[in-house]
Amino acid sequence: MGSNPKAPVTVKHIVEMKGRSEKIAALTAYDASFARVIDQGGVDLILVGDSLGMVIQGNDTTLPVTLDEAIYHTRACARGCSRALLVTDMPFMSYQASIEQALMNAARCLKEGGASAVKLEGGVELAPTVRRLVEVGIPVMGHVGMQPQRIHEYGGYRLQGSETSDAGKILNDAEAIADAGAFSIVLEKIPRSLAGKITKAISIPTIGIASGPDCDGQILVCYDMFGLADQFKFRFVRRYLEMAEDVRRAVSAYRDDIRAGRFPSADESFE
Ligand code: KIV
Repeated sequence: MGSNPKAPVTVKHIVEMKGRSEKIAALTAYDASFARVIDQGGVDLILVGDSLGMVIQGNDTTLPVTLDEAIYHTRACARGCSRALLVTDMPFMSYQASIEQALMNAARCLKEGGASAVKLEGGVELAPTVRRLVEVGIPVMGHVGMQPQRIHEYGGYRLQGSETSDAGKILNDAEAIADAGAFSIVLEKIPRSLAGKITKAISIPTIGIASGPDCDGQILVCYDMFGLADQFKFRFVRRYLEMAEDVRRAVSAYRDDIRAGRFPSADESFE
């Protein structure tokens, strides 16, 4: 990250990384403990994703997440994160109703959550909202391609942009969000070639998920990457830990130690 690897990452840094062809590493987080170790691990950006509706709350979609919940989790992450850029993912219907609604709710993510930026799903139709947020000093990350908040329109978390007309629409969406002043944009679940084309076409960094290696950066849901949500197995996820297996093994060992009278030991007790 430029000259000082410990300096807090800013929106400007993220934008400049594209100019230097430096890949951006991003992960989601939802609480202070994970945000702390993820930050210490050296990612550039932490997203408090509305994926919290699935991996934290156990819902089938992200739609039930409320703005208050997103702010609550952002505030917790802000206490753990000291270097990475912290971004709140605005929940379904917390920004789509009007520009005024988006302004007031995005401001809450910064004021109450401690985020430095917000992320919004949407393309051409959302560009005026992005422009207004940026005008008042709220940095925006876009999100095009497969937009999980449109799950009921798609009927499943399907690859988007494989037809020529869909690909053209996604490119137009990305260009509109970039022109409106977003500082970066998530490209979710689109073909690799389309992600590469969008990355070349726009001046802001693209952060890919399930969109291949030709984006300016990558993001994953941390529970997928840690192997904690191991009931799901996605082709686009690389697991760097098998955390669910390790936790299950640790819990069984703890139970066995208690049952056998091995825990706590004298050293773990007070006289
Ligand atoms: O909600 C989320 O975690 C996201 C990322 C996967 C991009 O939107």
